Amino acid sequence: MASMRSRPGARPVVNPVAGESVPEIRAIFLVGFMGAGKTSVGRVLSGRLGWPFEDLDDRIVAREGRPIAEIFRDSGEAEFRRAESAALRELLGELRLSPRVVALGGGAFVQAENSALIEKAQVHSVFLDAPAEELFRRCEREQRERPLRQNAKQFRELYEQRRASYMKAKLRIETNGKDVDMVAAEVACSLVDR
Ligand code: S3P
Repeated sequence: MASMRSRPGARPVVNPVAGESVPEIRAIFLVGFMGAGKTSVGRVLSGRLGWPFEDLDDRIVAREGRPIAEIFRDSGEAEFRRAESAALRELLGELRLSPRVVALGGGAFVQAENSALIEKAQVHSVFLDAPAEELFRRCEREQRERPLRQNAKQFRELYEQRRASYMKAKLRIETNGKDVDMVAAEVACSLVDR
């Protein structure tokens, strides 16, 4: 898929069938629940497209000067969401300068204010999905501290509450049974097929 490679500042994609220019995409945002593989797929996709990769959680940590778990513990979820929205606004403002592959934290796209901002930007949003049990197993394997992952029941209920919001993304990709390269290839192909 060498033809998918693209320079930062790539030109608008031309639909070869209609011959019409479709809006230039400035970023791919990977959304979905904890354990969906947003960061690992994002890194591979970034290599394929030649677009820099960014994890929104890393920007929050850098801006706040403390880890996510500490923000939740010391300031609570509402403060984390405020910091998350501020980081997202900052990032969206930078897309004019260079396109990007972005992994959002599991709750970011669920906030109506955030998804509305993303919808307005020239962004291709992709929901990486898998059954809640599989997502829970992946998080267990990763052993990263995730304040909103408590036990299997709570995890599944939160996933179910959020799923309708994730479905607002432009595309849903089932990741169960696929490796990271396969999922990244599907996302890359969806850019030309949109
Ligand atoms: C969260 C998911 C985490 C992180 C924070 C909140 C959520 O990101 O943003 O712990 O609300 O689901 P990952 O989806 O990368 O684990």
